[in-house]
Amino acid sequence: MPIITCIEDLRVMARRRVPRMFYDYVDGGSWSESTYQANQADFNHIKLRQRVARNIEQRSLATRLLGMDMAMPLAIAPTGLAGMIHADGEILAARAATAAGIRYTLSTVSICSLEDIAQAIAAPFWFQLYVMRDRGFVASLIDRAKAASCDALVLTLDLQLSGQRHKDLKNGLSIPPRLTPSSLLNILGKPRWIKGMLGTRRRHFGNIMGHVRGVDDMGQLAEWTYQQFDPSLCWDDIQWIKERWGGKLILKGILDVEDARLALASGADALVVSNHGGRQLDGAPSSIRMLPAIVEAVGEGIEVWLDSGIRSGQDVIKSLALGARGVMLGRAHLYGLGALGEAGVAKALEIIATEMDLTLALCGHIDVRQLDQRILLPGTYPQA
Ligand code: LAC
Repeated sequence: MPIITCIEDLRVMARRRVPRMFYDYVDGGSWSESTYQANQADFNHIKLRQRVARNIEQRSLATRLLGMDMAMPLAIAPTGLAGMIHADGEILAARAATAAGIRYTLSTVSICSLEDIAQAIAAPFWFQLYVMRDRGFVASLIDRAKAASCDALVLTLDLQLSGQRHKDLKNGLSIPPRLTPSSLLNILGKPRWIKGMLGTRRRHFGNIMGHVRGVDDMGQLAEWTYQQFDPSLCWDDIQWIKERWGGKLILKGILDVEDARLALASGADALVVSNHGGRQLDGAPSSIRMLPAIVEAVGEGIEVWLDSGIRSGQDVIKSLALGARGVMLGRAHLYGLGALGEAGVAKALEIIATEMDLTLALCGHIDVRQLDQRILLPGTYPQA
């Protein structure tokens, strides 16, 4: 077993172990992937100030987000199909997140269901909602999330239509995988993945299958899901969802200052600055580039989070310095999941936590809640 020291090690291992169709689904962006790449590149341009001879012995990563205690300023982002990256993937990742003292966010298009996660972890988690044309189904998902004791609803706003990811089209991404000679050959080279999948009954969209009339096989299900994302969604619908949910509401996919002001006016509790990991509008700016302007536009009225491009503890620290209260971790945890299942997600979280702690310390700070732009080198970071 190779020694794993960073998220990149987990990515390389996941690429070997996960069938190409699903690995590429995770590790791809839309069209030219320029926004996907900018998310990480823009973090790399930001420079930290090295400070010395300050007492950095007693350090803390703990924080409060949305009024909830968290071991670190991090949550697992909702990611579709995690249960295809590794058998029972969402259950395993939720367990690792809970053990690390942070929230797991279950995607609408997960393989394990809301009920599976509620049963597997004796702790609250968050649920991500896609608004579907079938509003009766949306209402039932909200009610199921309440019944599962989810303590925040993450409403994703940037996928009314799906961005085109070339690799998914070329690979014929489908659930379960369509066995063309080429995909069969590829899957046969992934014995651990096959063994896991044969050992679980969870191989469909768990939140949807069995809950929608007329959807009883996977072909129909995939078609239904993709036809159901609702292009007519607008701010009025958000009020309706907010009322029906009645709990903490997080709006994910805000990348523009005007939309951030509308998010604030909607009365939501948090917004997540995100370009969906570069999977939607290719050509949009990176999340970190837009963060300062959005933070300035909304002030203290709504908690601002960041998602897209986080691959290290340094990236988290830079996000906090520019005004994010917390960050969401999508691909970085999926690499861990694909590499080593639950232990891999735990490893990813441990790597990020250790990097955060050391970065905080070498910047001469001890408390993750008290970071601001002064830890960054002027001229190297985006401004409002
Ligand atoms: C995606 C959606 C399903 O990015 O979240 O593929």
